[in-house]
Amino acid sequence: MFSVALSSRLVAFALSASLVVAQTITPAPTTPAAPAQSTYPATPLASKRFPTPESLPYKVDTDVGLIRGDQHGYNICNSTTEGQESLCQTSYFNSIDDFCLWGPPEYGEEVGNIEGIMVAYCTKPGHGTRLIPAGALTGVQWTVTPDYVQAVGFIDQTKINILRGDWGGEMDPHGADLRGNPMGGVIFSNAYNSRYEQVVEWHNFVGGNAFCFKACDPNGPNAAHFCEHIYDRIGCAYNAPNNARDGVFESCEGENQDFPGTYTQDGVVMTYTQPAESLGAITTIPYTARVPASSNCVTHTSASLYTGLPSVAGPADTTTTATGTATRSGATSRATTGTGTAGSSTNTAAGSQSTDSGASTLAISGLSVMGVVFSALFFA
Ligand SMILES: *[C@@H]1O[C@H](CO)[C@@H](O)[C@H](O)[C@H]1NC(C)=O
Repeated sequence: MFSVALSSRLVAFALSASLVVAQTITPAPTTPAAPAQSTYPATPLASKRFPTPESLPYKVDTDVGLIRGDQHGYNICNSTTEGQESLCQTSYFNSIDDFCLWGPPEYGEEVGNIEGIMVAYCTKPGHGTRLIPAGALTGVQWTVTPDYVQAVGFIDQTKINILRGDWGGEMDPHGADLRGNPMGGVIFSNAYNSRYEQVVEWHNFVGGNAFCFKACDPNGPNAAHFCEHIYDRIGCAYNAPNNARDGVFESCEGENQDFPGTYTQDGVVMTYTQPAESLGAITTIPYTARVPASSNCVTHTSASLYTGLPSVAGPADTTTTATGTATRSGATSRATTGTGTAGSSTNTAAGSQSTDSGASTLAISGLSVMGVVFSALFFA
């Protein structure tokens, strides 16, 4: 979230803070006032094009001295940079056994505070990145549709440095200041044409031990709509409605979703407007996002997909395993009772809790709750 909503607030805070400083600290007459710090880059991240991974510069974000700081990592990634200390911000999104998520470089901060410095965690060695530790992913649905490829899944998020209990945030290549979250983060995929192409439009929600990641086909006419980034407060159920189930690894084909934020009521296409943060928590959403059908699903085992992953302990602490297991088993039972409803006030009530107990479905509502919890926790 927060890439637009929260980040804009952070930027606004940062701006006003710096203005306050500028206004209240009167420099001594002999001291020249520091130049005002700028917010926006010369070129927005989403306007930068790289035909191949090999064409990337060391850092895609070339702006220095802007208000959010410099790019945290780098984009030239290889065997030298690979490993759990990597700060690689070049990501891949190829197939169910070869994709990356964004995660914090260190454990200790809420996603909403550090979206700008996220680094790549991948399911396969060879990209110069960190790896998602073995066993962290507990279910993944990979879906190929006419206009995008999508991964939705379940993860012990502490294993990629996300705080236990963090309901997370949203990453995309825009952000309030157009530098992207992460700043300088780029994604390539060979899923569209069997050769690497830059994924220009994408969005990634993570938190509550679940994630959704959609990478829109840059050759499609509606990439920016399918990968819309303005609905950052309403989570996966509205931005990436899906049939994912914990405990299941499957690759599917699928129909396109509706554009996030649009729905059809009585034959009329409606557009939802996400309320401004200043209006408080989102308590009701007037629709349930249509979940497109999946087809030709092929089921895999985790062991067959993820063969090159390190077995590293969760970075959080030694109690991770017990708590994580309890959370996941709860999620599993909810998945099996899923009814496909989402976005009701019931979910809002469940979402107002800091744990994910109390929801009646997961594959859909659990993720919906995640979205609502975003607002409950961060915008109340
Ligand atoms: C490997 O990546 C590092 C860090 O980006 C870079 O400095 C180095 O030149 C790369 N090596 C090769 C052989 O490309």
